[in-house]
Amino acid sequence: MKPATIVIVDFGAQYVQLIARRVRENHVFSVIVSPSATPDEIRSHNPVGLIFSGGPASVYGQDTPRCSAELVRMGLPVLGICYGMQLACELMGSEVRGADASEFGRTELQVVEDAGLLAHVPKQTAVWMSHGDIVTKLPSDFVALAQTKNCPVAAVRHKREPVYGVQFHPEVTHTPCGHQIIRNFLYDICGCQGDWQVGNVLQDSLKAIKEQVGESDRVICGLSGGVDSSVTAALIHKAIGDRLTCIFVDNGVMRNGEVDLVEGTFRQHFNVDLRVVDARERFLTRLKGVTEPQQKRIIIGHEFIDVFKEEARSIKNARFLAQGTLYPDVIESGHSSVGHTSNIKIHHNVGGLPAELGFDLIEPLRNLFKDEVRRVGEHLGLPEEIVWRHPFPGPGLAVRIMGEVTEDRLSILRDADDIIIEEIRSAGWYNKIAQALGVLVPVSTVGVMGDERSFAGQHVVAVRLVESADFMTASWAHIDHEILGKISTRIMNEVKGVNRVVYDISTKPPATIEWQ
Ligand code: XMP
Repeated sequence: MKPATIVIVDFGAQYVQLIARRVRENHVFSVIVSPSATPDEIRSHNPVGLIFSGGPASVYGQDTPRCSAELVRMGLPVLGICYGMQLACELMGSEVRGADASEFGRTELQVVEDAGLLAHVPKQTAVWMSHGDIVTKLPSDFVALAQTKNCPVAAVRHKREPVYGVQFHPEVTHTPCGHQIIRNFLYDICGCQGDWQVGNVLQDSLKAIKEQVGESDRVICGLSGGVDSSVTAALIHKAIGDRLTCIFVDNGVMRNGEVDLVEGTFRQHFNVDLRVVDARERFLTRLKGVTEPQQKRIIIGHEFIDVFKEEARSIKNARFLAQGTLYPDVIESGHSSVGHTSNIKIHHNVGGLPAELGFDLIEPLRNLFKDEVRRVGEHLGLPEEIVWRHPFPGPGLAVRIMGEVTEDRLSILRDADDIIIEEIRSAGWYNKIAQALGVLVPVSTVGVMGDERSFAGQHVVAVRLVESADFMTASWAHIDHEILGKISTRIMNEVKGVNRVVYDISTKPPATIEWQ
């Protein structure tokens, strides 16, 4: 039985994933569908309400994304947001036009009807706007619930149908009453119980895995040491026990202690059949002389597939391949609720495994966001060190070493990386930031060694600590200078070959998080 679900129709909103997460934070399950979803497809999700997202188009433009007009007449509560509100209103006879003045950013809202959708919302409050069109004419069966200086219909409800809309964005934190509005919609208008939680997902997932795999086939799972593949493996292991085989490819460009962590967790703690493939030499030979970052990525990606394939062939009765695909990957690859998603992890930690491997895919996390996956990991008893890990790129330290990847350079960066992570952890900053990393810049700058000025064999290490919600944008962490000082002193004292440490204070964009 599917959980009571809020179905979000995505009209191209920048914030669509945020809407889905806001709903789930209220313990109500949500899915995102494309505007082409038919009423039957929507019914198949067990919907208790619909949300029409915002989007960059104009409802009166050409080739704009539109949904079936039936959606506003299904008897299900509808909340339109921004473009979604304009579309819902237009489908029910309103007129939408370009506004005389656009509204972007923080805007003062005046509430006219503080009940229903806007119950418990202050009469005057700030909201986040981002629109150039407005609803200009409302038929008499609509009521405007709020207004701003330039937008006479900033919130709306239909008098008979449970159709509502807001011109502003309740899903962003810049709208302080947004949480209340979403709650009002979910609990009071849709009648949600708020009983969905990650614990339920776990039971459903275990059942689904057992059904999919059956009684005798085996499942293979590529472990990277990252949270997604670890939770996938732990979940499948709980469902089918020793019919799971995990493959961990040591590609030679990992941090210190990765193999131990994965072996300690999966072989010793969970008793999983784990194959660790020592392919360090193979990868490093292929990387010899390569300095171009994309080339490094391609080599590591291809080599990974070859090594994985060879190992997988030796596993008898293996029919399924488990992948840690998450919901954002599914959304980005086109909203399909079923189907093949084998190439979508290409940028991700296990390297992306192509369909020609010939396995059926199992993707037990494909309905979950990262924070939900971490909670599943906690439920399954994975160690905190894995559950709360920062992401680590598939091509590993190779994209954090500028220029050629050599054993010496790897060793310097590993030692520096250890110090960075250790100090960030002990200062209590690890869980406050999204990623902490070191970059090896093999440029010799002058230094003093004893009484001598020296250039030879000395490198620069850049420390990069970023805060980011989605890794699409990031800001550098405003961390205490004492911690940076300690990191710098320790690296220069303890890591041979480094005589200068710098802190990267670039935002993304225009910089990226990684240096390559
Ligand atoms: P950038 O550097 O693009 O990074 O700002 C955004 C996020 O993606 C990670 N990243 C990668 N992950 N393979 C991966 O598995 C890659 O080639 C790759 N490049 C970047 C990066 O660590 C950050 O979390």
